[in-house]
Amino acid sequence: MGQELAGKVAVITGAARGIGRATAALFVAEGARVVIGDIDEEAGQAAALALGEAAIFRKADVGRTEDIDALVAAAVDRFGALDVMFNNAGVSCRPSADFLDDDLADFEQVMRVNVLGVILGTQRAARHMGRNGGGSIINNTSIAGLIPGLAMLAYRTSKMAAIHASKSMAIDLAQYGIRVNCLAPGHIPTDLNAFAPPGASPEAAARIQVAMKPVWDANKPLKRQGTPEDVAQAVLFLAGDRSAQITGTVLAVDGGISAGDPVNHFRELMAARAAALGEGA
Ligand SMILES: NC(=O)c1ccc[n+]([C@@H]2O[C@H](COP(=O)([O-])OP(=O)(O)OC[C@H]3O[C@@H](n4cnc5c(N)ncnc54)[C@H](O)[C@@H]3O)[C@@H](O)[C@H]2O)c1
Repeated sequence: MGQELAGKVAVITGAARGIGRATAALFVAEGARVVIGDIDEEAGQAAALALGEAAIFRKADVGRTEDIDALVAAAVDRFGALDVMFNNAGVSCRPSADFLDDDLADFEQVMRVNVLGVILGTQRAARHMGRNGGGSIINNTSIAGLIPGLAMLAYRTSKMAAIHASKSMAIDLAQYGIRVNCLAPGHIPTDLNAFAPPGASPEAAARIQVAMKPVWDANKPLKRQGTPEDVAQAVLFLAGDRSAQITGTVLAVDGGISAGDPVNHFRELMAARAAALGEGA
């Protein structure tokens, strides 16, 4: 490990588990001090405790302005600054298979957390950073915000909106020395995409991930399993000075899913053509 974030202070939302927690651990290993914000108090406290003096936890709902302001204040009061904001907290929607049957009951909550949370987190962090020489803001979106597709309509819509808002805010905030970039993970095994039933044990969630892997892999050029730590490395790059000239971008961490379709349709087409000509497969 280097000390890429030595002396820096970061707020990471949704860091009680998953991608946020892995990022908090990497940031601390790279010399940063971190405020972990999450609605899950028990898991959030445990995440901070595991990182020692360099991390504190504050209970926060990213859809509430006063909670975001409290996270920024906690960073400044405890650690004296706010240099990096990772607006990571997010919720999925129910994986409805059929749009016509989707009652969109979770639409407002998904938009509140995934869009309003990102906008509030960017604005409130930027108010501090703008007065203090700038900073780096990273917003966690998704490949679902890049690629239209079947099902998950509320989630796709929210992540697309978060990307659009982030690019607009990047233009707005450049004058203050603040960079705003998006991350677009895909198929990282966490609680969010296990769609585990409420109260499912960690073992059950792990079994679900193993069962789902071949399905995830079907449209992923790299068959390697991505991890929260892979995503954390991309956040580290966008947080630190190596990305000093980068703002308003979306960095996909998805094993190539958003690059395009990995199925060789020409092979299938040629097989169909050969069959039509009576040439055999
Ligand atoms: N896992 C993936 O494959 C994947 C893919 C694309 C995008 N993402 C995005 O990555 C981010 C992190 O997700 P994850 O996969 O680590 O999921 P996760 O479920 O492991 O972690 C999400 C965390 O956000 C917290 N949270 C939820 N609502 C909140 C709120 N209103 N305020 C504060 N905290 C809240 C949860 O308590 C949880 O700790 C999300 O924005 C998600 O949409 C994940």
